[in-house]
This record gives sequence, structure tokens and C-alpha cells, in this order.
Amino acid sequence: MENTSKRSTFCLQNLLFLLLPCLFFLIQYLAVPVTGDSPVTPYNPIENITIDCGSSTDAESLDNRLWIRDGNGKFTPIEQQNNNNKSSVSLTAPQPPTSSVDRVPYYTARLSYSEFTYSIPLTAGQKFIRLYFYPTSYPGFDDSSNKAFFSVKAGPFTLLRNFSALLHAGGEVTLIKEFCVNIADGQRLNLTFTPSPDISDSYAFINGIEIVSMPTNLYYKPASDDGIFFLGQESLYSLGNNSALEKIYRVNVGGTQIPPGRDETGMFRSWLQDKDYLTIAKPSVLPVNSSINLTFSNLPSFSAPKEVYVTARTMGRNKTENENYNLTWEFLVDSGFNYFVRLHFCEFQGEITKQGDRVFEIFLANLTAETQADVIVWSGGNGVPVYRDYVVAIGKKGYLKQQSLSIALHPSPEWRTLYSDAIMNGIEIFKLSNSFDLAAPNPDPVLKNPPGNSPPSSTKPKNTKNKILGIVVGVIAGFVVFSLLCFFIFRRKMTVKDSGSSQGISWWSQFSSTTKSNKSTKSRGSSLPSDLCRYFSLAEIKGATNNFDNVFIIGVGGFGNVYKGFIDGGATQVAIKRLNPESQQGAHEFKTEIEMLSQLRHLHLVSLIGYCNDGVEMILVYDFMAHGTLRDHLYNTENPPLPWKQRLEICIGAARGLHYLHSGAKYTIIHRDVKTTNILLDEKWVAKVSDFGLSRVGPTNMSKAHVSTVVKGSFGYLDPEYYRRQQLTEKSDVYSFGVVLCEILCARPPISRTVEKEQASLAAWAQQCHRNGTLYKIIDPFLRGKIAPECLKKFTELAMSCLLDEGIERPSMGDIVWSLEFALQLQESGEEGLKPNGGAGIEEDIDEESPFKNYELEDDSGEVFSSIGDHVMNSKSPSAFSLTTSDEQSFVSKDSDRLLSKAVFSEIRNPQGR
Ligand SMILES: *[C@@H]1O[C@H](CO)[C@@H](O)[C@H](O)[C@H]1NC(C)=O
Ligand SMILES: *[C@@H]1O[C@H](CO)[C@@H](O)[C@H](O)[C@H]1NC(C)=O
Ligand SMILES: *[C@@H]1O[C@H](CO)[C@@H](O)[C@H](O)[C@H]1NC(C)=O
Ligand SMILES: *[C@@H]1O[C@H](CO)[C@@H](O)[C@H](O)[C@H]1NC(C)=O
Ligand SMILES: *[C@@H]1O[C@H](CO)[C@@H](O)[C@H](O)[C@H]1NC(C)=O
Ligand SMILES: *[C@@H]1O[C@H](CO)[C@@H](O)[C@H](O)[C@H]1NC(C)=O
Ligand SMILES: *[C@@H]1O[C@H](CO)[C@@H](O)[C@H](O)[C@H]1NC(C)=O
Repeated sequence: MENTSKRSTFCLQNLLFLLLPCLFFLIQYLAVPVTGDSPVTPYNPIENITIDCGSSTDAESLDNRLWIRDGNGKFTPIEQQNNNNKSSVSLTAPQPPTSSVDRVPYYTARLSYSEFTYSIPLTAGQKFIRLYFYPTSYPGFDDSSNKAFFSVKAGPFTLLRNFSALLHAGGEVTLIKEFCVNIADGQRLNLTFTPSPDISDSYAFINGIEIVSMPTNLYYKPASDDGIFFLGQESLYSLGNNSALEKIYRVNVGGTQIPPGRDETGMFRSWLQDKDYLTIAKPSVLPVNSSINLTFSNLPSFSAPKEVYVTARTMGRNKTENENYNLTWEFLVDSGFNYFVRLHFCEFQGEITKQGDRVFEIFLANLTAETQADVIVWSGGNGVPVYRDYVVAIGKKGYLKQQSLSIALHPSPEWRTLYSDAIMNGIEIFKLSNSFDLAAPNPDPVLKNPPGNSPPSSTKPKNTKNKILGIVVGVIAGFVVFSLLCFFIFRRKMTVKDSGSSQGISWWSQFSSTTKSNKSTKSRGSSLPSDLCRYFSLAEIKGATNNFDNVFIIGVGGFGNVYKGFIDGGATQVAIKRLNPESQQGAHEFKTEIEMLSQLRHLHLVSLIGYCNDGVEMILVYDFMAHGTLRDHLYNTENPPLPWKQRLEICIGAARGLHYLHSGAKYTIIHRDVKTTNILLDEKWVAKVSDFGLSRVGPTNMSKAHVSTVVKGSFGYLDPEYYRRQQLTEKSDVYSFGVVLCEILCARPPISRTVEKEQASLAAWAQQCHRNGTLYKIIDPFLRGKIAPECLKKFTELAMSCLLDEGIERPSMGDIVWSLEFALQLQESGEEGLKPNGGAGIEEDIDEESPFKNYELEDDSGEVFSSIGDHVMNSKSPSAFSLTTSDEQSFVSKDSDRLLSKAVFSEIRNPQGR
């Protein structure tokens, strides 16, 4: 009440005073700028709503705001009807938040396994939406709160997707996300929380929701505005009501942290200190002038709290030194978005009064934003605040989830400035929605108590008060990892046929029938030769995964979980497969697996690093593949397309891996599930064949050229001959590899349901196009004009020969390796020929030190299976997890598997059935 009356008298004064000169500002800001010695006039939000989610009583927070209950109140969310009877519940955290965290709104939460929506009536206009999260364990909802993955939408805007508050908090206890959206006339704000459909038993939760009206066009620009300078694009960005913003950073440069309760502008914005983001400071100084009377002649006085404008960071007065460095801050931001950057300035030091006193350059993300920043010129005088807005794009760079956006200041050349210095008072950085999307991937998990030496994550000092720094640290720790999505597991099941008996034994397969516990002594790690591969203690594995913390889970299968882990003191990332501790069976198979896999070593096969076998635990540790699956770089992806030469090199690598399986070892090993999701790429883009879950040992003597088996494989890749005759030869892998070659060339899935029927199967369609001479039409558009014609000819001939109906007519993997190498030579000489003519259309060069050169074609491994003697190995496919939601899936078909097979084939006939 008091605020309102103060404000209206104030308005009257100003109307008389400023009617003519300030008409423009009145229109633009719908609020009155303040001049003279007046204190900051707060903005008076029309809406100032705080909802204490899950609470049944209204409660006051420490800063004396009243948080309204959502249990049986005005704000009770609407629930999506769901057939599983899992309705949303209000819950109280089992442990009250620690003393550093407010009980309101964090103590209570609204949680649900199904979608729920807060539909909040609001006036039209731009609003701050702040979401408060306290990721902890809530009774009845998954002990360690790690199934909380969900999306949040505000009207049409996706604010968060597959969001984990725990990962985003990066070690902090609570998390606040702040967004800005515009509510159109007559609309409600519908805030919808949806548990991630991809994760079983996922649930959504929220502790508090705050909605505060924003002054009109505080950040947004009116339609009449020319737009904001878009750095690097030499254009203007119009930031209108059709965008949503997410506040990423708000920093009081050179000053102290300002909590929401101390923000006298009336918008409850919080400001952080800048020192955690400062990367190059030299002896910068922190001038303060708290006695100055600010003059808001350019801006509404609520633009930022006074404290932001009366504190600053400058470079200091050592001219020599200043000329040799950039005063630099760096802020980690999500790749692939545009950012709105607002820089606040105010000259408050007595000696800076005239134009030319302190002139400096400003660089944003290494781009020049200003060559002659002169705050006095911009503002009109000492003590007059001003801000400047910029938009800068942070594109996708490699596979970095986040990159740093740097802000750097440097004095202008001597002749332009009296003092070689620069100043900054405040920084705000917002992520701009890509049409309706603001969501970015979760940060990688951070190890809380890393084993051994400190991993990179813990070497960074951590300010517990600073929630955002947690995220920063988390990201630094995960910097080497470019994508969590891209992961593999090595699933494998072996069946040992004792002479006569052919009873399958499986140690993790859910298909496993009976276990003939033949001499299944609990085989300890010590019983295995230590030279086979590394032995890990359980303590090491626990350290590597934060005691199997569920946030480290990257995959789940019938056998147990796969975790991402850090070994060697956090220096090495690995994939850790933990077999279900309940499964007591299979110690023998576990041993066999280790013995066999540890000897199957090849540059182009994903390798086993080690194992742990401690009591009931059976754990396998594999290489971590930084670039994930090949498919993830071909289609349905946000990754940039791979250049042709690199694709050829990947083909060659994968072909060598398969060639080794087929002929490098004593026994022929048939992979049986060759596909682009089973070809993984390490950090140097070396292709590695993975997932021998289906593979089996081929014929051991020449009298029998095939093995009869259950037909297994993946849709779209399956050798028709194998399917017809149920006889497996290594040529089935060759057929599948032919499909892979087509996928690489055409960048489309082996089975596509969105195209005409005749085109649905890539193999059939490519063959038809090849016959008609129209294959060029279906080549990946990105590759057009970039493949040397001779190379293309060789490559397509090879792919077609792999797809021949009769296995016997198909080339061997050895021939394929040779042909691909030849194709690569043709490409290289084709490019040589092209280069002098301007080089246009040639893709970027592959790294000179390409790991694909100087390989060893075959390892000397005639003795691979010696340690397992004459056992004939057979394997079945456990339905292990797959991160891809691809068009094909591994299946099993056999008379005795009728039921399963029927189900599988009904999916073919009825693609919608899934
Ligand atoms: C916001 O609402 C609270 C009551 O919850 C009130 O005390 C406060 O004055 C309001 N703030 C503004 C800026 O209107
Ligand atoms: C849902 O609840 C109703 C009544 O409580 C019960 O009859 C029904 O079986 C439940 N459905 C499921 C799927 O649990
Ligand atoms: C919000 O939800 C309500 C209730 O479900 C619905 O009637 C309304 O149309 C929705 N409004 C918007 C803008 O989506
Ligand atoms: C600021 O204004 C107050 C009151 O209007 C006045 O007493 C004070 O001297 C002014 N300070 C400066 C530095 O001008
Ligand atoms: C300025 O910095 C330079 C280089 O760091 C140093 O050599 C010089 O003594 C400093 N000058 C003054 C006046 O402090
Ligand atoms: C800016 O340049 C630095 C140093 O050259 C580099 O590390 C950083 O990645 C660049 N940042 C951007 C956004 O390009
Ligand atoms: C300051 O940053 C700009 C842009 O990144 C760069 O071009 C310049 O070389 C830097 N200057 C110094 C002294 O580091």
C-alpha cells in the first residue's frame, strides 16, 4: 500500500516535470525514469506470486514473502489422467534442508509419476518465472532422487527437457531456474511438468514456483525497436515477445552478492559476485562510491540495484600492464543457442567526467563488440548509469555441451584515451529460445568424493554460496566427455557346451533358462591370471562411481546397470558394467568372458580394461567411447555431418575390426549384429566394433562351412540368405556391413517408415537405384560434389557386392578392407586433382595425425582361444539396453521362440504397433 501511494505521487511529479522530454521513455518503459537525487524507485509488480508446492499451509519465507500452498488451494495443479493410478502427491523432505537453505519453499515438494500442470491466471505481459528445486530423496519416490528426470513447459515454450535438478545443481543443495516469458492477452500460464518417457519410473518434482511481473520491455524490445546488435552476424536481433529467455548469469561486477530479498528494484533478482568468473585479472581494482547520488537519465531506476552501479572492476592504473592484458570473465553457456548479454556501466570515480577520459574495447566471445566504449559518451556524465545490449551466437562446437562465453576489456589506443583503463559494473547473460526451445542437455555428473588423486573437478575451489559455480565445476569435470548419450555397452553372454550337453547357461541374460552350475565355484579375481587384464578392487569401483550413485547410470539392461566411471584418480573415464548382485549364477561364464575378451585386442574393437570380482559383485570395465555411435553422426542427430574422407576412414576401421574377428583369431567369430549403432567412435574418431552380445564362434573345421543357429540380428541389417537358411556364415556380417556402407553414403536409417514402401528398406532401395543408375540421387546431400567420381564408383560397387543375395558371391571382410582403402586413395587423388582449381567444395582436411594410418592389419593372435580350450562358444542375446530409439531392434527367432518371434514380426507388419 505504502509503495503504491509513494509511486503515484512520484508519477505526478514526474509527469509535470518530464512530460515532453520523456514521452519517449514513458512509452517505451511504461514506467517513469527517475532523475535527480531521488532514491531508486522500485518497480511494483502487478503479479508477485509465490507458490509453496506440496504445502498444505501458507508459509512465510525468511525474506518475509508469503508463499501460498498448492495443496487444496487456488494453485493446486491439474493432473493428467493416467492409467497407472500414480497420482501426484505432496511430500515433505525427510530431512529439513540444511540451515543454509530456506525451509520455505524447499521443505515441501509436489511430486508425480504422471504429468501435472499448474494453470495460473495472469494478466497479459512479460513475467519472470522462477522454479525452485531441492533434489533430495522423498519418501516413496526412489531413494536417491535420481529418477527425477522431467520436462517443464510454459505454454508453448519448453523450458527444460529430460531435466535432472540433481545434475544441474552440480553439488549444490538447491537450484533455482529463472526464465522470462510473455503471457498474451487472456491467456493463463500453464506450467506443465512431465516425467521423461524414456526413463522408467521417472517422476517430476517442484518445490516452489515464483512468478513476478516484469516491467514491460525491461529485456524484451518493442516491435518498433531496431533490434539488438548481433555480434558476428552484422545484423540486428529482434528480441520480441515470441522469445523466451533463461537467465544464465547475473553478476554484480566488483561488488557483493545481492540476494533476491535485497534487490530494491522490486523484482527479486539475485546478483552474484564476479570473482568466480574472472579468468584474467592481473591487479584489477575494485572502486566503490556509495555516497554518489546516481542520476537515472537514460534508464528506469529499477534497471539494476544501486549497488551494481556504485561498485565496479577496473584494470587499475598501471598503463604498461593494462596494455598487455585483457580484463576477462568467462561464463559457461550451453552450445547451440544465441545469448543476450547486457553490460551495465556507470562512471562514479571523480576523475572520469569527460568524453575520452576512459575509452576501451569490449570483446564478447572473442568478437569485437566495441572499439571505443566511452561510458561518459553513452550516459552523458559521471554518476549516470547506462547499459548496452548485445546478442552473440554460441554455436555447436564439436560435441561440447557447453562452451565459455568470454567478456574481455582492453584499453583503447593511447591517442584515444586519457587513462589506459576499462570499467565494468554489471553483467547479465540470458539464453534465447530457439523458436520455442530453451532446453539443453544435463551437465555430466560430478564426483563428490573422488578416489585417489583429485580429479579435475575437485581442484577448482568451490564457493558453496554460489549455486551456479557448481554447474561450472561439473562441466569442467566433464569436459573431456562430449556426449553422454553416446554410450556403449558390451553385453555378452556365453554358453558353454559340455560334451554332449547343450544346455545354455547365462549369467546375465534374462532369457537364461537353467543354470547347470557346473563346478561353479565362486571364482575370485585372484583365480584369474592377472596378466589378462586389470583387476579392480570393489573399493576402486565404488570410488569410480560414487558408490554406484544412480546419477552415474548410463544404461540399464537385463544383466544390471552400466555406469560411467572415473578411474585413476578421475583421469580416465570408463564404462562400468555391474552384473546384478542377486544373480549368483555365472561365475564361470564371467571368468570365461574375461579370459576371452581380454585377449580379443584390436585397435578396431572396443576393449575390456578390467574387471572386479569381489564377493557377489561381478563387474566389467570397458573403454569409454567419447564420440558415441557412428549412427549418431549420420542422421537424426544434431551433430555436424562427417566429411566423406572421415566416413571412409571409419568404414575402413570398422571393416578391419570385423576382418580381425573373422580371420584374425584361431576361430572365426561372427559378430551377427553389425550396425551403425554398434560401431563406436573414440575421442580421435577411431572406429571400434562393439557389442558382441550376439556374436558366436563360427565353424572350426573346414568340412562345415556354416553353423546352424537361431536367427538373430537387427531389422534392416539381416542377411536374407541367413534368414532363409538359418545358417550362419561370416558373409552375414558382410551383408550387414553392406547396409552400413549404404547408411554412411545416404545418411538414412536402414528401415524408414516415413517414406514410400519401395524405399522403406535401404538395402533394397539402394540396389534398385543402383540398377537404374540413379544412386546419386539418394546420396547424403551434404556429400554431393564432395566425393571423387572414381571413389564413388568403387564404393557403391563394393556396397552392392556386399548386398548380393548369395553369401558366397559377397566379398570377404579382407577384400572389403582392401577395396575401401583403394576407394580412399581414389578420393585422395581426386582431391589432389581438384585442389589447384580453387579447392571449392572440398571438405576440411582430416587431421594429419589420423589414427587410421599406420595401423596393424592383423594382430598376431592365433592363440586367442587357447585358454578356453575346445569349448564351443555360443551366445544368445540378452535384451540389453539400447540408447537408440532406432527403427530396428535386435530380435531372436526360432521354433522354440515362436512367441517372441511372432511378437517381433508383428512389429514389422504393423510398424505403428510400437
Ligand atoms: C510481493 O508480495 C509480498 C507478499 O507475499 C509483499 O509483502 C510484497 O510487498 C510484494 N512485493 C512487491 C514488490 O509488490
Ligand atoms: C486403480 O485404482 C482402482 C481403485 O483404487 C483399482 O480398482 C484399479 O485396479 C487400479 N488400477 C491399477 C492399474 O492399479
Ligand atoms: C491452460 O490449461 C487450461 C486447462 O487445462 C486450458 O483450458 C487452457 O487452454 C490452457 N491455456 C493455454 C494458453 O495453453
Ligand atoms: C546526495 O543527495 C543528498 C540528498 O539529496 C545530499 O545530502 C548529498 O550531499 C548528495 N551527495 C552527493 C555526493 O552529491
Ligand atoms: C607496471 O607493471 C609493470 C609490469 O608488471 C612493472 O614493471 C612496473 O613496475 C609497474 N609500474 C608501476 C608504476 O607500478
Ligand atoms: C576465444 O578464444 C580463446 C583463446 O583463443 C578460446 O579458448 C575460446 O574457445 C574462444 N571462445 C570462443 C567462444 O570462440
Ligand atoms: C584481447 O582479446 C581479443 C579478442 O579475443 C584479442 O584479439 C586480443 O589479442 C586480446 N588482447 C590481449 C592483449 O590479450
